[in-house]
Amino acid sequence: MTVREPEAVMQAVAAAPDDAQPAGRRLEIDPPAFRANYLRRPFLIPHQIARHPLFSLPRLIELSKSLPPEYVEYNAGNIPISIDSRLTPQNGLSIEETIRRIEENRSWMVLKRVEQDPEYNKLLNECLDEVAPYAEALGPAHRIHSRAGAIFISSPGSVTPYHMDHETNFLLQIRGTKFLNVFDPTDRSLLSEQELEGYFCSTTLHRNLVFKDEFQQKATVFTLTPGLALHVPSTAPHWVKNGPDVSISFSVAYQTPASDRVIALYDANARLRRLGLRPTPPSRSRFRDSLKLGVSSVVTRVQKLLGGSGRKGQNPQRRNDHA
Ligand SMILES: [Fe+2]
Repeated sequence: MTVREPEAVMQAVAAAPDDAQPAGRRLEIDPPAFRANYLRRPFLIPHQIARHPLFSLPRLIELSKSLPPEYVEYNAGNIPISIDSRLTPQNGLSIEETIRRIEENRSWMVLKRVEQDPEYNKLLNECLDEVAPYAEALGPAHRIHSRAGAIFISSPGSVTPYHMDHETNFLLQIRGTKFLNVFDPTDRSLLSEQELEGYFCSTTLHRNLVFKDEFQQKATVFTLTPGLALHVPSTAPHWVKNGPDVSISFSVAYQTPASDRVIALYDANARLRRLGLRPTPPSRSRFRDSLKLGVSSVVTRVQKLLGGSGRKGQNPQRRNDHA
């Protein structure tokens, strides 16, 4: 297990202005660090929105009331690292009560797709407009789209179980401390091809993964404090433990043509595996990838013509489940 303490990054945070100032730079991206790590491994970036008024509890209660119910998810926060998301215990409280008494009610909550509120949409775009030039410098396949914001509100000591998300993500810590245990997205001893196929072709919300104690030695643990953001690459497994205070985090996430392609390939591989084949993982063979995507596109069109829903993957409610 590797532990990354953020002293050097925090020196930059200490010099950062608070948000009483007009919108300036939201993130302090270091270009060489971005180029060296983006999409490959997690890395820290200072940010300047920790004192933004959109993250006060009264404003978050207002936001929670304005979102459609399916975009507000909450449950008990004192749960194990490994749990089937269908079995997660509820906290028995209302949404407002959960936020208002978050310090004491041992709960975990996420407000999803907060860009439905214009003010949060503006802040999301201000952050991602700063990421986009660096990401898109990698080529047209890395153009960012499907921007989505989520806010996590959780009690002291809460746990977010071991899971992974398909979006590319930056998690900005706003309040309290969070310990993010992040794992290599390319390590197939942690996350098998079949698990990835199951995730991307499923229409259910079973986002959690099975955690084994021996995995922990492979974790890199990041201490997130207010003013720090962590880049979490797509499909990097992770679990989270809060520090001794209430935690609020802002997730800014998106997809790209490159990530769309990977999702389509896993969906195609899941179909092939159901036929009894052993498909080649994505990105190993350009020819096979192109063939699968071509066939998959035709099959999807035929299914739609026949009245089906086409490709199954990408349940919109599964987006943005970062801790
Ligand atoms: Fe996550």
